[in-house]
Amino acid sequence: MKEQLQSIKDSALGAVNGCSDLKELDALRVKYLGKKGELTAILKQMGGLSAEERPIIGQLANDVRTAIESAIKDKSDALKSAETELRLKAEAIDVTMPGKRFANGRRHPMNIVLDELKEIFRGMGYTVVDGPEVEETKYVFDMLLTKEGHPARDPQDTFYITDEVLLRTQTSSVQIRQMLAEKPPFAIISPGRVYRRDEVDATHSPIFHQCEGLVVDKNLTFADLKGTLEEFAKRLYGEGMKLKFRPHHFPYTEPSCEIDFQCFRCGGKGCPMCKGEGWIEILGAGVVRPEVLENCGIDSEEYSGFAFGIGIERITMLRYEIDDMRYIYENDMRFLKQF
Ligand code: DAH
Repeated sequence: MKEQLQSIKDSALGAVNGCSDLKELDALRVKYLGKKGELTAILKQMGGLSAEERPIIGQLANDVRTAIESAIKDKSDALKSAETELRLKAEAIDVTMPGKRFANGRRHPMNIVLDELKEIFRGMGYTVVDGPEVEETKYVFDMLLTKEGHPARDPQDTFYITDEVLLRTQTSSVQIRQMLAEKPPFAIISPGRVYRRDEVDATHSPIFHQCEGLVVDKNLTFADLKGTLEEFAKRLYGEGMKLKFRPHHFPYTEPSCEIDFQCFRCGGKGCPMCKGEGWIEILGAGVVRPEVLENCGIDSEEYSGFAFGIGIERITMLRYEIDDMRYIYENDMRFLKQF
């Protein structure tokens, strides 16, 4: 029996060693150690042994079992860690890749437009900065002069995590972070995702994207804002693009405006796409209120600034004549492969 046990041990260890996947390893465990396994079969014959032989063979059988069990465990650990390594490799994201590119080399229309937008503003001397999506209420509201109880801050319009933390409803929060982090002059844009309690329709989604812009320097006026945005629109859409500046109210700018771009569908005549208006709302903007600058420790006697927020879905739709925002999110290849 000693020889039999030794040969089971040798063959089991050899098989385990050469095994290359977890399923196969499990089959080996059953083959050698299972209820109907080879080792069990030997042990069943132990009844026929003499009283002196029994403990010796019993001990040997135990040693063989332990050796096989530990070889299986080592192999299983090694296979699992190799599997994890492979999975991590497969799931790894190449952060040096320029935006997301599909396997066929095409890109999502939002990424194409976003890259163009960044190029245009970089060309005008702006830096691109990032800001958190899970944000403190003081940056999203309070320091932008939208204190609790302000009508522009209806808590039901937002997604709160705690009383003081929420999913940002606007990228304007980055303005505050920028002004606290750096001394003027500066010119930044900050594209990113924002969240609102909006119903989904052809032009609305509870998750969408904005690009914030902020310039703080000496002697800036509304004229600088107007010139900048007109230049931006022309570079993105060509010389013919017309803009309409409409007076509006934002708590953190004065004067404030909304800016509409002429409807691509009807060229301004009025159609279902622009809801008969001839124009599509693309931006909110204004001259930064001195209180906002002072809140961030910037001397409002010396410096002034202008700011704007661009809807990225809207400029993408206008650019590619997409008449329903839902196409942008649905990832339907029939839509995506056109870009
Ligand atoms: N935050 C505004 C919105 O979400 C857009 C906006 C308006 C941004 C005026 C600004 C600004 O920077 O000055 O509708």
